[in-house]
Amino acid sequence: MKFALALPLVAAATLSAAPALAYDADWKRGRIYYRAICSSCHSTTPNGVIQPNSRTKAEWVVYLEANKHDKGKEPVTKYFSSDYLNSIKASNKAADRFSSVPADQLLQDVLLFLQRSAKDGESPASCS
Ligand code: HEC
Repeated sequence: MKFALALPLVAAATLSAAPALAYDADWKRGRIYYRAICSSCHSTTPNGVIQPNSRTKAEWVVYLEANKHDKGKEPVTKYFSSDYLNSIKASNKAADRFSSVPADQLLQDVLLFLQRSAKDGESPASCS
């Protein structure tokens, strides 16, 4: 298994009774998602774009597992959902492309990208 840490997260995100299927996360797709969906919104929010290397690998896992966003106002999984992607796809080409991808795969892709690009990751990245 390539990324063991992601499994409890997926189970939590989908609340599925089925065993987590082995999904080989794609950090490059995660990077596109993070930039095109997460950062495109953060560029307009009070604290601005959130750099992947502003947190450690462990802090990112804790953040996504907690599933709280914007100080707990809503779950962060909302922003991986096809409902959210469909709601912005008229003005966001990436959202249009991603809206048919299962949310738990997108979440794992982003998590793997954040693991790679974290402060203590193999390729710390500040990217918008
Ligand atoms: C609709 C706009 C929007 C989208 C999309 C969005 N965010 Fe946010 N995000 C916010 C706002 C608003 C805040 C809180 C204010 C700030 O930090 O400027 C925030 C804050 C955060 C924070 C700082 C801690 C916290 O929760 O307050 C993190 C980390 C974060 N977002 C991650 C993500 C990730 C990962 C995605 C993509 C899966 C995402 N966000 C998508 C609007 C968005």
